Amino acid sequence: MPDDSLLHRDTRRLDGLVAVVTGAAFGPKAALGSVFAAALAAAGASVVVADIVDAEPVAAALRAKGGRAVAVPVDVTDEGAVEAMAAKAEEVFGRLDILVNNAVVGSNIPPVPLAELDVAAFDRVIAVGLRGSVLCAKAAAPRMARNGWGKIVNIGSTTMQEGLPNRLHYVSMKGGVLALTRALARELGPQGIRVNTLATGLVANPAAGAAFAARPELVAKIRAARAIPEDVTPDDLAGPLVFLCSPESDAITGQFIVADKGAHFT
Ligand SMILES: NC(=O)c1ccc[n+]([C@@H]2O[C@H](COP(=O)([O-])OP(=O)(O)OC[C@H]3O[C@@H](n4cnc5c(N)ncnc54)[C@H](O)[C@@H]3O)[C@@H](O)[C@H]2O)c1
Repeated sequence: MPDDSLLHRDTRRLDGLVAVVTGAAFGPKAALGSVFAAALAAAGASVVVADIVDAEPVAAALRAKGGRAVAVPVDVTDEGAVEAMAAKAEEVFGRLDILVNNAVVGSNIPPVPLAELDVAAFDRVIAVGLRGSVLCAKAAAPRMARNGWGKIVNIGSTTMQEGLPNRLHYVSMKGGVLALTRALARELGPQGIRVNTLATGLVANPAAGAAFAARPELVAKIRAARAIPEDVTPDDLAGPLVFLCSPESDAITGQFIVADKGAHFT
Protein backbone atom coordinates (compact mmCIF):
# COMPACT_ATOMS: atom_id res chain seq x y z
CA MET A 1 0.00 0.00 0.00
CA PRO A 2 1.40 3.44 -0.85
CA ASP A 3 2.07 5.79 2.03
CA ASP A 4 -0.59 8.54 2.07
CA SER A 5 2.11 11.16 2.53
CA LEU A 6 3.49 10.26 -0.89
CA LEU A 7 0.11 10.83 -2.50
CA HIS A 8 -0.08 14.29 -1.00
CA ARG A 9 3.47 15.27 -1.69
CA ASP A 10 3.99 19.00 -2.21
CA THR A 11 4.80 19.61 -5.86
CA ARG A 12 5.53 23.33 -5.35
CA ARG A 13 9.05 22.50 -4.33
CA LEU A 14 10.52 25.96 -4.99
CA ASP A 15 8.09 27.89 -2.77
CA GLY A 16 9.83 30.86 -1.13
CA LEU A 17 12.82 30.73 -3.47
CA VAL A 18 13.90 33.40 -5.96
CA ALA A 19 15.31 32.57 -9.40
CA VAL A 20 17.03 34.60 -12.13
CA VAL A 21 16.82 33.22 -15.67
CA THR A 22 18.93 34.96 -18.32
CA GLY A 23 17.89 35.02 -21.96
CA ALA A 24 14.32 34.43 -20.82
CA ALA A 25 12.43 36.65 -23.28
CA PHE A 26 10.77 34.83 -26.14
CA GLY A 27 14.10 34.01 -27.83
CA PRO A 28 14.45 33.78 -31.60
CA LYS A 29 15.37 30.10 -31.66
CA ALA A 30 13.94 27.69 -29.11
CA ALA A 31 13.05 30.26 -26.43
CA LEU A 32 14.12 27.77 -23.79
CA GLY A 33 14.63 30.57 -21.26
CA SER A 34 10.95 31.50 -21.24
CA VAL A 35 10.03 27.83 -20.74
CA PHE A 36 12.51 27.61 -17.86
CA ALA A 37 11.07 30.78 -16.28
CA ALA A 38 7.55 29.35 -16.55
CA ALA A 39 8.58 25.99 -15.07
CA LEU A 40 10.30 27.65 -12.10
CA ALA A 41 7.28 29.90 -11.49
CA ALA A 42 4.93 26.90 -11.67
CA ALA A 43 7.10 25.17 -9.06
CA GLY A 44 6.57 28.14 -6.74
CA ALA A 45 9.65 30.30 -7.33
CA SER A 46 9.58 34.06 -7.82
CA VAL A 47 11.31 34.67 -11.13
CA VAL A 48 13.45 37.47 -12.55
CA VAL A 49 12.97 37.24 -16.31
CA ALA A 50 16.19 38.78 -17.62
CA ASP A 51 17.13 39.52 -21.21
CA ILE A 52 18.80 42.05 -23.48
CA VAL A 53 15.49 42.36 -25.36
CA ASP A 54 12.14 43.20 -23.75
CA ALA A 55 11.21 40.37 -21.38
CA GLU A 56 8.06 42.03 -20.03
CA PRO A 57 5.71 39.89 -22.21
CA VAL A 58 7.08 36.74 -20.56
CA ALA A 59 6.89 38.21 -17.04
CA ALA A 60 3.36 39.50 -17.68
CA ALA A 61 2.26 36.09 -18.98
CA LEU A 62 3.59 34.43 -15.81
CA ARG A 63 1.86 36.97 -13.55
CA ALA A 64 -1.40 36.47 -15.49
CA LYS A 65 -1.22 32.77 -14.58
CA GLY A 66 -0.73 33.55 -10.89
CA GLY A 67 3.06 33.45 -10.82
CA ARG A 68 5.45 35.98 -9.31
CA ALA A 69 7.70 37.44 -11.99
CA VAL A 70 9.47 40.65 -12.90
CA ALA A 71 11.22 41.54 -16.15
CA VAL A 72 14.71 43.01 -15.84
CA PRO A 73 16.69 44.30 -18.82
CA VAL A 74 20.28 43.10 -18.82
CA ASP A 75 23.22 42.65 -21.11
CA VAL A 76 25.02 39.73 -19.48
CA THR A 77 28.35 40.92 -20.90
CA ASP A 78 28.10 44.14 -18.85
CA GLU A 79 29.30 43.61 -15.27
CA GLY A 80 27.49 46.67 -13.93
CA ALA A 81 24.20 45.66 -15.54
CA VAL A 82 24.54 42.11 -14.20
CA GLU A 83 25.17 43.38 -10.66
CA ALA A 84 22.12 45.66 -11.01
CA MET A 85 20.05 42.64 -12.11
CA ALA A 86 21.05 40.65 -9.03
CA ALA A 87 20.38 43.67 -6.79
CA LYS A 88 16.94 44.04 -8.39
CA ALA A 89 16.11 40.41 -7.56
CA GLU A 90 16.83 41.13 -3.90
CA GLU A 91 15.05 44.47 -3.97
CA VAL A 92 11.84 43.01 -5.45
CA PHE A 93 11.78 39.51 -3.93
CA GLY A 94 14.12 39.81 -0.92
CA ARG A 95 16.70 37.17 -1.84
CA LEU A 96 18.39 35.24 -4.64
CA ASP A 97 18.63 31.45 -4.57
CA ILE A 98 18.72 30.19 -8.16
CA LEU A 99 20.57 31.33 -11.29
CA VAL A 100 19.95 29.82 -14.72
CA ASN A 101 22.65 30.90 -17.18
CA ASN A 102 20.73 30.44 -20.43
CA ALA A 103 21.48 33.56 -22.54
CA VAL A 104 23.24 32.82 -25.81
CA VAL A 105 24.08 34.19 -29.22
CA GLY A 106 25.56 32.35 -32.15
CA SER A 107 23.81 29.00 -31.94
CA ASN A 108 22.55 29.50 -35.49
CA ILE A 109 25.65 30.97 -37.13
CA PRO A 110 26.20 28.88 -40.29
CA PRO A 111 29.04 26.36 -39.99
CA VAL A 112 32.43 27.71 -41.16
CA PRO A 113 35.87 26.08 -41.30
CA LEU A 114 38.65 27.43 -39.06
CA ALA A 115 40.26 29.33 -41.96
CA GLU A 116 37.09 31.37 -42.45
CA LEU A 117 36.29 31.94 -38.78
CA ASP A 118 34.97 35.45 -38.09
CA VAL A 119 36.96 36.34 -34.98
CA ALA A 120 34.61 39.16 -33.98
CA ALA A 121 31.67 36.71 -34.05
CA PHE A 122 33.75 34.23 -32.05
CA ASP A 123 34.46 36.89 -29.41
CA ARG A 124 30.77 37.82 -29.16
CA VAL A 125 29.65 34.20 -28.69
CA ILE A 126 32.24 33.72 -25.94
CA ALA A 127 31.34 37.08 -24.36
CA VAL A 128 27.63 36.28 -24.03
CA GLY A 129 27.72 32.55 -23.31
CA LEU A 130 30.87 32.20 -21.20
CA ARG A 131 31.84 35.64 -19.86
CA GLY A 132 28.15 36.35 -19.24
CA SER A 133 27.79 33.15 -17.21
CA VAL A 134 30.87 34.08 -15.15
CA LEU A 135 29.57 37.60 -14.47
CA CYS A 136 26.12 36.33 -13.47
CA ALA A 137 27.66 33.75 -11.12
CA LYS A 138 29.91 36.45 -9.65
CA ALA A 139 26.90 38.63 -8.86
CA ALA A 140 24.67 35.80 -7.62
CA ALA A 141 27.05 33.69 -5.53
CA PRO A 142 27.62 36.10 -2.61
CA ARG A 143 23.85 36.58 -2.31
CA MET A 144 23.29 32.81 -2.26
CA ALA A 145 26.16 32.33 0.19
CA ARG A 146 24.42 34.67 2.67
CA ASN A 147 21.62 32.06 2.87
CA GLY A 148 24.03 29.11 2.89
CA TRP A 149 22.32 27.56 -0.14
CA GLY A 150 22.03 28.18 -3.85
CA LYS A 151 21.72 26.59 -7.28
CA ILE A 152 23.46 27.62 -10.48
CA VAL A 153 22.42 25.80 -13.64
CA ASN A 154 24.45 26.54 -16.76
CA ILE A 155 22.71 25.51 -19.96
CA GLY A 156 25.02 23.35 -22.06
CA SER A 157 25.05 21.58 -25.38
CA THR A 158 25.97 18.10 -26.55
CA THR A 159 27.64 19.73 -29.58
CA MET A 160 30.53 20.36 -27.20
CA GLN A 161 30.63 16.72 -26.13
CA GLU A 162 30.67 15.39 -29.69
CA GLY A 163 33.17 18.02 -30.91
CA LEU A 164 30.90 19.20 -33.69
CA PRO A 165 33.25 20.58 -36.39
CA ASN A 166 33.01 24.01 -38.08
CA ARG A 167 31.26 25.60 -35.10
CA LEU A 168 34.30 26.63 -33.07
CA HIS A 169 32.64 29.66 -31.47
CA TYR A 170 29.66 27.77 -30.06
CA VAL A 171 31.47 24.53 -29.21
CA SER A 172 34.36 26.36 -27.49
CA MET A 173 31.90 28.47 -25.52
CA LYS A 174 29.95 25.42 -24.32
CA GLY A 175 33.18 23.62 -23.45
CA GLY A 176 34.12 26.62 -21.34
CA VAL A 177 30.70 26.55 -19.69
CA LEU A 178 31.26 22.95 -18.57
CA ALA A 179 34.75 23.78 -17.24
CA LEU A 180 33.23 26.74 -15.41
CA THR A 181 30.56 24.47 -13.95
CA ARG A 182 33.15 22.09 -12.51
CA ALA A 183 35.46 24.81 -11.16
CA LEU A 184 32.58 26.73 -9.56
CA ALA A 185 31.12 23.54 -8.07
CA ARG A 186 34.36 23.04 -6.14
CA GLU A 187 34.84 26.73 -5.27
CA LEU A 188 31.28 27.43 -4.16
CA GLY A 189 30.38 24.02 -2.70
CA PRO A 190 31.63 24.89 0.80
CA GLN A 191 29.14 27.79 0.77
CA GLY A 192 26.24 25.44 0.00
CA ILE A 193 26.00 26.41 -3.68
CA ARG A 194 25.48 23.63 -6.24
CA VAL A 195 26.54 24.19 -9.84
CA ASN A 196 25.53 21.94 -12.73
CA THR A 197 25.27 21.98 -16.52
CA LEU A 198 21.96 20.91 -18.09
CA ALA A 199 22.60 20.03 -21.72
CA THR A 200 20.64 18.89 -24.72
CA GLY A 201 20.95 18.51 -28.46
CA LEU A 202 18.82 20.07 -31.16
CA VAL A 203 15.49 21.21 -29.69
CA ALA A 204 12.39 21.14 -31.89
CA ASN A 205 10.21 24.24 -31.69
CA PRO A 206 8.00 26.22 -34.08
CA ALA A 207 10.97 28.24 -35.39
CA ALA A 208 12.95 25.09 -36.06
CA GLY A 209 9.85 23.44 -37.54
CA ALA A 210 10.16 25.04 -40.97
CA ALA A 211 13.85 24.20 -41.20
CA PHE A 212 13.08 20.65 -40.05
CA ALA A 213 10.33 20.26 -42.64
CA ALA A 214 12.72 21.30 -45.40
CA ARG A 215 15.21 18.57 -44.47
CA PRO A 216 13.27 15.39 -43.61
CA GLU A 217 16.36 13.19 -43.99
CA LEU A 218 18.18 15.26 -41.33
CA VAL A 219 15.20 15.05 -38.97
CA ALA A 220 15.05 11.27 -39.45
CA LYS A 221 18.80 10.99 -38.74
CA ILE A 222 18.59 13.10 -35.57
CA ARG A 223 15.62 11.13 -34.27
CA ALA A 224 17.18 7.77 -35.12
CA ALA A 225 20.32 8.67 -33.15
CA ARG A 226 18.21 8.87 -29.98
CA ALA A 227 17.43 5.89 -27.76
CA ILE A 228 13.92 7.31 -27.74
CA PRO A 229 13.52 8.16 -31.46
CA GLU A 230 11.50 11.35 -31.04
CA ASP A 231 12.03 15.12 -31.12
CA VAL A 232 13.24 16.89 -27.98
CA THR A 233 10.96 19.84 -27.14
CA PRO A 234 11.56 22.77 -24.76
CA ASP A 235 9.07 21.22 -22.32
CA ASP A 236 11.26 18.11 -22.12
CA LEU A 237 13.88 20.24 -20.36
CA ALA A 238 11.56 21.88 -17.84
CA GLY A 239 11.40 18.94 -15.40
CA PRO A 240 15.17 18.36 -15.29
CA LEU A 241 15.73 22.12 -14.85
CA VAL A 242 13.33 22.37 -11.90
CA PHE A 243 14.90 19.27 -10.34
CA LEU A 244 18.41 20.75 -10.62
CA CYS A 245 17.11 23.97 -9.01
CA SER A 246 15.38 22.19 -6.14
CA PRO A 247 16.65 20.83 -2.81
CA GLU A 248 15.89 17.33 -4.16
CA SER A 249 19.11 17.49 -6.20
CA ASP A 250 21.33 18.77 -3.39
CA ALA A 251 23.76 15.83 -3.73
CA ILE A 252 24.37 16.66 -7.40
CA THR A 253 27.03 19.24 -8.24
CA GLY A 254 29.68 19.73 -10.93
CA GLN A 255 27.74 17.45 -13.29
CA PHE A 256 26.91 17.43 -17.00
CA ILE A 257 23.29 16.29 -17.09
CA VAL A 258 22.00 15.47 -20.57
CA ALA A 259 18.28 15.55 -21.41
CA ASP A 260 18.25 14.57 -25.09
CA LYS A 261 16.21 11.35 -25.24
CA GLY A 262 19.35 9.26 -25.23
CA ALA A 263 21.45 10.51 -28.15
CA HIS A 264 24.50 10.91 -25.93
CA PHE A 265 25.48 8.86 -22.90
CA THR A 266 27.78 10.64 -20.43
N1 LIG B 1 17.84 25.42 -29.25
C1 LIG B 1 18.58 24.33 -29.20
O1 LIG B 1 18.43 23.41 -30.03
C2 LIG B 1 19.61 24.17 -28.11
C3 LIG B 1 20.32 22.96 -28.01
C4 LIG B 1 21.27 22.80 -27.00
C5 LIG B 1 21.50 23.83 -26.11
N2 LIG B 1 20.81 25.01 -26.24
C6 LIG B 1 21.10 26.07 -25.27
O2 LIG B 1 19.90 26.48 -24.64
C7 LIG B 1 19.97 27.88 -24.31
C8 LIG B 1 18.79 28.62 -24.94
O3 LIG B 1 18.82 28.39 -26.33
P1 LIG B 1 17.64 28.92 -27.27
O4 LIG B 1 17.71 28.10 -28.52
O5 LIG B 1 16.38 28.98 -26.48
O6 LIG B 1 18.18 30.38 -27.60
P2 LIG B 1 17.39 31.64 -28.20
O7 LIG B 1 18.32 32.19 -29.24
O8 LIG B 1 15.99 31.30 -28.58
O9 LIG B 1 17.33 32.64 -26.96
C9 LIG B 1 18.51 33.23 -26.44
C10 LIG B 1 18.11 34.41 -25.58
O10 LIG B 1 19.31 35.05 -25.07
C11 LIG B 1 19.11 36.45 -25.15
N3 LIG B 1 20.39 37.16 -25.18
C12 LIG B 1 21.26 37.25 -26.20
N4 LIG B 1 22.29 38.04 -25.87
C13 LIG B 1 22.08 38.45 -24.60
C14 LIG B 1 22.80 39.29 -23.71
N5 LIG B 1 23.97 39.86 -24.06
N6 LIG B 1 22.29 39.51 -22.48
C15 LIG B 1 21.11 38.95 -22.12
N7 LIG B 1 20.38 38.15 -22.91
C16 LIG B 1 20.87 37.90 -24.16
C17 LIG B 1 18.33 36.65 -26.45
O11 LIG B 1 17.69 37.92 -26.50
C18 LIG B 1 17.35 35.48 -26.38
O12 LIG B 1 16.15 35.82 -25.73
C19 LIG B 1 21.31 28.36 -24.82
O13 LIG B 1 22.27 28.35 -23.78
C20 LIG B 1 21.66 27.35 -25.90
O14 LIG B 1 23.02 27.28 -26.15
C21 LIG B 1 19.87 25.19 -27.21
